[in-house]
Parts: sequence; C-alpha cells; structure tokens
Amino acid sequence: MVKSTLSTHENDVVNPLLMNLGEDVMGFLNEVQSQYPKAISFASGRPDSKYFSIEKFSEYLDFFVKTEALEKGQTENEILSYLGQYNRTKGIINNEVSKYLLVDESIQALPEDILITVGAQEGIAAGIMTVCNKENDVILVEDPAYIGITHFSQINGYHVDGVPVTSNGISLEKLEEKIQYYNSIGKRVRVVYVIPDFQNPSGVAMSLENRYKLLELAEIHNFLIFEDNAYGDFSYESSSYPTLKSMDKNQRVIYLKSLSKTLYPSLRLALMVVDQSISIDGNVLRLSDFVSKTKGYITVNTPSIIQAMFGGMLRQHNFSLKELNKEKVLGMKEKRNHLVKCLEEVFNTKNNSWSNKVQWNHPNGGFFIRVKLPFEVGKEEVIECAEKFKVIFTPMSFFFLNEGGESELRLAFSNLSLEEIKTGVERLADYIKSKIE
Ligand SMILES: Cc1ncc(COP(=O)(O)O)c(C=O)c1O
Repeated sequence: MVKSTLSTHENDVVNPLLMNLGEDVMGFLNEVQSQYPKAISFASGRPDSKYFSIEKFSEYLDFFVKTEALEKGQTENEILSYLGQYNRTKGIINNEVSKYLLVDESIQALPEDILITVGAQEGIAAGIMTVCNKENDVILVEDPAYIGITHFSQINGYHVDGVPVTSNGISLEKLEEKIQYYNSIGKRVRVVYVIPDFQNPSGVAMSLENRYKLLELAEIHNFLIFEDNAYGDFSYESSSYPTLKSMDKNQRVIYLKSLSKTLYPSLRLALMVVDQSISIDGNVLRLSDFVSKTKGYITVNTPSIIQAMFGGMLRQHNFSLKELNKEKVLGMKEKRNHLVKCLEEVFNTKNNSWSNKVQWNHPNGGFFIRVKLPFEVGKEEVIECAEKFKVIFTPMSFFFLNEGGESELRLAFSNLSLEEIKTGVERLADYIKSKIE
C-alpha cells in the first residue's frame, strides 16, 4: 500500500533554509555513537552526571516555598498554587539572580533587566529576534563557533558571518575588516557573538586586552556584543579574566549564562542580562521588555517550578554557587590535566616522525581541547576510527561556517572517566599512526 505524503517536494513542507543547513552533524555523531556503543566518545561536551545532585531538587524547592511563604505572609499552599500557574515572562526569581550575579560574577544588574530563560538557546533566539532585522543586519560570530547560534540564525533567515578565532579569542583585526566591508555594502553589523571563556569548540579564552578592545569597538562601530558564558565557571588556573559584562560601562553587552554545565542541562535554565535602553518617539524604554515580549511568543514563561528550585538553591547558599561547584570544577580540572598528560605521553615521548606532527592547545578551562593533525578528517574518518579503533571525535570543520578546521578535531573530556580518557587517547594515537604511516 502506498502511504499518503504531504508533498512530493521537501521544500513545500519544510523550511528551505533548514534544508540548506545540510546534514545534521550532531545527529550524525549521535548516530555513530549508537552504532558503535563500545567506542569511547570524545564527541559530546555533556557535563558529567556524577555531579548533578538532582536528589536535592525537592529540598531546594521546599526551601523556596517555605521562605517565600514567610516573606509574603502567605500559606505554603498559596505559594504552591502560584508556582503551578502561568507566570511572569521575565521570571520569578530575578531578585535572587540579581544577587547571585553580583556575588559570583561581579555583574550589577537590576532585577527588571534580567530574564530567566529556557536555556541559553532560548536567550540566543529571543535576543536575535528582538534586536536584528533580516534585511540589513549582520550577525558576526566567532569561526569556529557554537552551532546553536549559527544554525538558529541561518534557519530563520538572518545574515550570519564568521570571524576567525585566534589563541586570544576573536580576531579583532578581522572583525574590523568585516565591519568595514558590511558598512561599504550598506549593511550594518548589529551583533557580535562571542564565548570569551573557554570557547566551544576551541577552548581558548579571550585575553584581557582584547576584552577591553572589543568593548571599545562596540562603542566605535555601534554593535551589541552577545556574551555567551556557558563555561566560565570551569576555570582551572588561579587567575581568570572578568566577564565582558562585568567590564561593560556603556551597556554594550547582552549577557547569557547557561546553567546547563554549572548545574545540569535538564533544568533548561539560563540567565540573561539585557540592561540597554532604547528611545522610541522620545520615550526611553527597556530593551529587556522587548526581549520579554519576544520570549512570550516562544515559551510564554520559563517553568516556575524549576525557577523556584533554583531560587531555593540560591537562598540556601547565600546567593553563591562557588562552594557548591568546587568539587565539580576540581573534577573537570583533573580530567583536563589527565587528557593533556595522556596526549603528552603518547605523542611527545616517542621520538618518531609521525607523533611529532600532532599538536594540541592547553586551555585554562572549559570542556574542550583542540588537536591539529597532519591529515584531513571528516565524516568518513569518524566512522572509520569508531569502527576500527573504537574511539569517536568531532571534526573541527563541523563548527566552521564555511571552510576551515579540515585537519583538526575537538576532544571533549567532560563526560569521560580518567580511565576512558587514557584508553581513548591510546586508541586515537593508533588511529593517527595508521593514517600517517
Ligand atoms: C557555548 C554554548 N552556549 C550554550 C550552550 C547551550 O546552553 P543551554 O543548554 O543553556 O541551551 C552550549 C551547549 O553546549 C554551549 O556550548
């Protein structure tokens, strides 16, 4: 029997911009993983579930309900009813988050300028949809970049372009060139998206000097910076740089802080600071109100129960997550150190011609290490390596907007045990050796 179909042509039923993205590379990696379940996977940047502490969920929720009832002079049942309802689009724990941002991140943000979003992904979507127009505006992203922003922008028809990433973060020289180019063809660079701390996928951190310069460029060329701080909590050296938002004197930065890595991804929780104001017909209005309006048409509001749990956590821990995350950060640092050590042992100590051609960076934080190889890797190589050597990696080219990263790969160490890291590196070395020899 012939099944009925909506159309014979995919573009009639599916957004053609979605089709233009080509193959779903992350779906491909998941597919490889499920096809070779015995392979050790350096592909996924998932946090280690060992540190999730979900068992505390009800305790924090309870704490929020009790303290809220006391504070508002209501019964706990009344607070529970309130948590079961539709709620404020900007969020219900903005006061707590404002204190947390000040205590842990030295960011001064008024509760009205904060949005509690359904993950950083929603913040990216609502932010872009609020401040960019599709006709004239250009979004510049680090290249390679986290595909959450590039693919969102492309599917929705925004003009997005890449700027190379150096060992000090986004190349400011190339950024200026791009801005001048777009100005010369009548377009305006509206947003520059950066991950200053331990970038996904390259692991690099933007230097302090470049942070100052980028803020200056935003003033000169009148663009907004989207600062995505998903990995800043995972800093492994004694000194780390301040966030752009904490240095932002002229409201140039829209700040996004995902809690997926800091706590756990299933919360789908992120914090967004939008403290810009805009003037329309002589009226000065909060940009955050416009982002909130957009968010209202995406998710209506972020689940109140999840917010209440996080609010309870913040109240119980004096508005700081530092102590709570200490062990997790140390655990991740140990993994970073171990991966570097294993790479050194396997590739540096052997005095032979093939292993010297492999290089890697040494990020001061985050979940990723970037490795350079003397040959190109793509999908075929991922499958070959998974099948024959039982180890999976992500080709760096997957994160580039156009060309680039053909002979590089990203190793994510966050969700592997120390033993798996060691065995994985040995297997990877066998694969690389087989390719070079
Ligand atoms: C740089 C970056 N931003 C955002 C996210 C996703 O954040 P969320 O889970 O809060 O949507 C990720 C996840 O990998 C990421 O690497």
